[in-house]
Amino acid sequence: MRAMTYRGPYKIRVDEKDVPTIQHPNDAIVRVTLAAICGSDLHLYHGMMPDTRIGHTFGHEFIGVVEEVGSSVENLAKGDRVMVPFNIYCGSCWFCARGLYSNCHNVNANATAVGGIYGYSHTTGGYDGGQAEYVRVPFADVGPSIIPDDIRDEDALLMTDALSTGYFGAQLGEIAQGDTVVVLGAGPVGLFAARSSWFMGAARVIVVDHLEYRLEKARSFAHAETLNFAEHDDIVVELKKQTDYLGADVVIDAVGAEADGNLIQHVTSAKFKLQGGSPIALNWAIDGVRKGGTVSVMGAYGPIFSAVKFGDALNKGLTLRMNQAPVKRQWPRLFEHIRAGHFTPSDIVTHRVPLEHIAEGYHLFSAKLDGNIKTLVVPGT
Ligand SMILES: NC(=O)c1ccc[n+]([C@@H]2O[C@H](COP(=O)([O-])OP(=O)(O)OC[C@H]3O[C@@H](n4cnc5c(N)ncnc54)[C@H](O)[C@@H]3O)[C@@H](O)[C@H]2O)c1
Ligand SMILES: [Zn+2]
Ligand SMILES: [Zn+2]
Repeated sequence: MRAMTYRGPYKIRVDEKDVPTIQHPNDAIVRVTLAAICGSDLHLYHGMMPDTRIGHTFGHEFIGVVEEVGSSVENLAKGDRVMVPFNIYCGSCWFCARGLYSNCHNVNANATAVGGIYGYSHTTGGYDGGQAEYVRVPFADVGPSIIPDDIRDEDALLMTDALSTGYFGAQLGEIAQGDTVVVLGAGPVGLFAARSSWFMGAARVIVVDHLEYRLEKARSFAHAETLNFAEHDDIVVELKKQTDYLGADVVIDAVGAEADGNLIQHVTSAKFKLQGGSPIALNWAIDGVRKGGTVSVMGAYGPIFSAVKFGDALNKGLTLRMNQAPVKRQWPRLFEHIRAGHFTPSDIVTHRVPLEHIAEGYHLFSAKLDGNIKTLVVPGT
C-alpha cells in the first residue's frame, strides 16, 4: 500500500509499505477514504517530538471503510463506514472508566501521561497512522463509530480531532452565560473553540493570531472579534483594554509550544533546546485572564518548561484545565449541533490533496502558504 513516511525533520515522502494485518482479536483493518493533517502533525514534522522514528506513518485524523475485523469484534463489520477518534484506548481501565480516554493506561508503554494516539511517534505508543491507504485500528469495538447516514464525510473527519478538540477546549473553559472568551490561535482548533464558545453562553469571543487570513476566517466562520498580536506592542495590555482592565473570564490556548511572538522564548526553545518549546501563548493566557478566571489549554506542550508564569497563575487564583481531547465524549453533542444546522465544520477546509502529494500539503501548512487552514488528504489518488 501507499503510505506517508517520516524521513527526518521537514522530510516526508510516500512509500510502499505492507498492508497492516490483524494482530489482536479486537483489531480492525480500515481502508482510509479521507485523512487530514493536524497542527499536531507539524510538531512531528518539525522534529519536536521525541522518538519519532524514520519510516513512521503519521495521521490521527481519518475516516474509512472496514476491510477486515478480528475474531472478537462485535460492533463493526466489513463494509461499515467508520469515523475513528485520534485516541487509541481500551475502554475498561481505571482512566477509561472515568472518561479519560486520552489517558488510557493499557495502550502505551510510556503511559505515565498520554495514552495511545495514531501516527504520533513511539512516545504515544508507536502506532502507524492513517495518512495511508490502510490502517490497523486496535480496540475496534471501543473507539470507532459507524458514520450516521446524514453526516457528511468531511464533517465526520473533522470530528475525529480538530472539531472535538475545539469543543472540548470550550467545555474545559467552564464558560458561564455572559462570559468574555479569548481564544489564542486561529487554526482549526482555535476556530472550532471560538465557534463552540457561543454554544456555551459566551457573550463575547475574541480570537488572537498574527495571520490576517486566519483572523478573517475567525470573523466569518466563528463570528468572533479579532486581534492581530503583531499590531500591538503588548497583546496582554490590549486584551486588558478590551475587557474593562479586568481580563477575560476564560482564555483558551489553541497554540501550543511552537508559538510565535517572543524572540527569547523562540531562541531558547527552537534553537537551543533549553526548554520543550515556547510558553509564550500560555503566559499570555495566564496574564490575559482575570483573577479567578479559567485557562483551558488545548495547544500541545512537551513535558519540560522553565518559563511558565506559574506563580502568577497561583496568585491570581486561576483554574488551569487541559488534556489531550477524549474525542468520542464530544460526539453526541456535536452530532446534534450539526444536525440542527448550527454550523458546517467543513467550512474551514481550504485544501484537498492526493496522498501522493502529501509532502506539498505539509509544506503549505507548515509555512502557512496559500491561505492554508485545513488540508484533507485523499488516498488512492
Ligand atoms: N489537546 C489536544 O487534544 C489537541 C488536539 C489537536 C491539536 N492540538 C494542538 O492544538 C494546537 C493548534 O492546532 P491547530 O491544528 O489549530 O494548529 P495550527 O498550526 O493550524 O494553528 C496554530 C495557530 O496559532 C497561531 N499562533 C502562533 N503563535 C501564536 C501566539 N503567540 N498567539 C496566538 N496565536 C498564535 C498560528 O499563527 C496559527 O494560526 C497545536 O499545538 C496542536 O498540537 C491539541
Ligand atoms: Zn490532532
Ligand atoms: Zn483504558
